[in-house]
Amino acid sequence: MDIVIIGAGVIGLATAWRAAARGAAVTLVDPEPASGASSVAAGMLTPVSELTYGEEPLLRLGLASRERYGAFIAELEELTGHDTGYRGDGILEVAFDSDDLGYLDDLRRFQESLGIRVEALTGRECRKAEPMLAPGVRGGLLAPEDGSVDPRRLAPALLAAAGRLGVRLVRRRAAAVIVENDAAAGVRLDDGSEIRAAKVLLAAGPWSGDVEGLPPGVVPPVRPVKGQVIRLRTRVPFLRRATRGLVRGSSVYLVPRADGEIVIGATQEELGFDTRVTAGGVWELLRDARELLPGVTELEFTEVSAGLRPGSPDNAPVMGPTALPGFFLGTGHFRNGILLAPVSADVLTEVLLDGTVPEVGRPFAPGRFDAAGANGPKTRVGGAS
Ligand code: GLY
Repeated sequence: MDIVIIGAGVIGLATAWRAAARGAAVTLVDPEPASGASSVAAGMLTPVSELTYGEEPLLRLGLASRERYGAFIAELEELTGHDTGYRGDGILEVAFDSDDLGYLDDLRRFQESLGIRVEALTGRECRKAEPMLAPGVRGGLLAPEDGSVDPRRLAPALLAAAGRLGVRLVRRRAAAVIVENDAAAGVRLDDGSEIRAAKVLLAAGPWSGDVEGLPPGVVPPVRPVKGQVIRLRTRVPFLRRATRGLVRGSSVYLVPRADGEIVIGATQEELGFDTRVTAGGVWELLRDARELLPGVTELEFTEVSAGLRPGSPDNAPVMGPTALPGFFLGTGHFRNGILLAPVSADVLTEVLLDGTVPEVGRPFAPGRFDAAGANGPKTRVGGAS
């Protein structure tokens, strides 16, 4: 079976690898594979810590992906010999003042009502877990099953895995989807050449709306949501595990790597396709990080970068078959692309190869944005989770 995947970020790459492992002939189209948000993201793996009320289906998807992460990484690292910087030793979430602590308490009760394991910690227990935390930190939560991965290592490892399994990489921009006889028939590239295929998966993140040739309404309005991230370096032990903080209602997170890098994120800005880094963005991140970890200002400043998250109308992924036969979506992962890569790859591989949507993926069908369901398929929903 011939499949063309538009977009070689973590979702497109992971799906290409998984589909090729099942014997599909896959072509990936991307002028700059393993770049974009995949090269900016901090890589926190936290369905729990970033939980928002009313997002239970997304939480279940995140938990399903987190469960798969260890085996996904083990297989990837064994196949490629790459180290992805994966760790599953928990995420600490701390509160700066009593209002922040009140919010974390509410969040813990909500998580527990959903059967999710989190541990409430006093301020002293937080500082025992992370000795560099400020003395005023009020308390926190430990999500023991959360973790992190280094997306700058993960994406190249996925690219290598896809290559090992025979995935063809075309370093060009996909200009249009070719539609013939009311079905997708391949992709036209920006140089006018064509790649013919029975199935086309659009996984181009915030650029998913730029591909031409599609009937109206098939691609929901995926929008770019800018995130600025800074990178520091330490030569002495500074932070043991990924730590999120609420500082007067503002959220910041710090993710340490084994080589001494500390990634601090992230702003959330609705500015269209703007990837400029700003003094205000850097200030905001350092201001909040310093409230939690005063020693942060002593560290070496190595980088500031900005990426674009693909936000969908309800901020959840858009995955599965569309009203156009042969055309599929794997986009809209917003703040969760790195976390959701394993489960999204499994869902999309089943969708592409078996024609069924596994249970865990059903709430994210493209047709959900259309009251009449016109954007979704009329049949072929089924199969095991
Ligand atoms: N998931 C982290 C972020 O979007 O900032």
